[in-house]
Amino acid sequence: MPMPSQQIMRLGLGFAVSQAMRVVIELRVPDLLTAGERAVDDLAAATRTNADALYRVMRLLAAEGVFREVSPRHFELTELGAALRSDRPGPGDFVRMINSEAYLAFEQLLYSVRTGKPAFDKLFGSPRFDWLSKHPEQADLFQRAMVALSQGSNEAVAEAYDFSPFTRVVDVGGGHGQLLSAILSRNPHLSGVLFDLPSGVAAARQGAGGDLPRTEFIAGDFFESVPRGDVYVIKKVVHDWDDERAAAILRNCRRAMQPDGKVLVAETLVPPGDEPNQIKGIDVVMLAITGGLERTEEHYASLFAAAGLRLEQVIQTQGPISILEASPA
Ligand SMILES: C[S@@+](CC[C@H](N)C(=O)[O-])C[C@H]1O[C@@H](n2cnc3c(N)ncnc32)[C@H](O)[C@@H]1O
Repeated sequence: MPMPSQQIMRLGLGFAVSQAMRVVIELRVPDLLTAGERAVDDLAAATRTNADALYRVMRLLAAEGVFREVSPRHFELTELGAALRSDRPGPGDFVRMINSEAYLAFEQLLYSVRTGKPAFDKLFGSPRFDWLSKHPEQADLFQRAMVALSQGSNEAVAEAYDFSPFTRVVDVGGGHGQLLSAILSRNPHLSGVLFDLPSGVAAARQGAGGDLPRTEFIAGDFFESVPRGDVYVIKKVVHDWDDERAAAILRNCRRAMQPDGKVLVAETLVPPGDEPNQIKGIDVVMLAITGGLERTEEHYASLFAAAGLRLEQVIQTQGPISILEASPA
């Protein structure tokens, strides 16, 4: 067992590994190693970088299992490193996204802890999503990172819940429509409503998230009202908002739903206890960057209660996401 001081230093150096990963992804080193091992001098020539500096960064990442130094200054890709290739959205997009402007804001986490407000807004002069809307390249990277993060989640939610008692599913803040598409393709008896801001609806209508048969596209603001239906799905939306705003969205679902309808909140729960779980890291990142928060099951139960709903059951899907099913209280 390493001494406490050594363990603390390792924890404190987490930023070095994180930024080193970002650097090799930006340089597309994992792509360059796809065909097999290469000398670092060769990689430096291909990436127009300083060979000795690149070597030191790759040696650090080899110690973390991202590369393997097969002979002096020759590296190959490990299974971990292969996940950083750029041919499709993957965890590398998340690493790049989180280590850019979000990383700068995170340096001011102490401000967020003192005030409860996102440091991002203070540093960049506007909330994260407003800022992204004016920076298309970063917004594109953010989208890729979100696609990577939610890989498998839409299918997992669609598979895990029995939609047979319902006729009309409303996806609140449905974004590009991947979840609604997965639900409708498995449930031919259902019609759908894709509800989002005008920008989200436009992308979904063009098929950005897959086929949407039997679907009505409705643009609006979920803080004002949501369309009528008998089952509401609301995935990775509630965690974007503080309790007051989150309860306002759920209250609007409560108002619009039929008496025997259900609200399905799909989120990743913060588990009880001290066990390591990446959602605890995401939660603190949200504190500093967006102002959102991740919640425990108990926290969601009290949020539902504040919105006139009652938590009926929690369904753990095959993916890293749970379904919290609520009925009118
Ligand atoms: C984190 S995304 C989740 C998208 C989708 N549910 C998913 O799981 O991929 C949040 C969504 O909420 C939408 N949204 C944000 N504010 C909204 C509002 N006031 N009214 C309706 N939709 C809104 C955004 O456009 C975005 O599509």
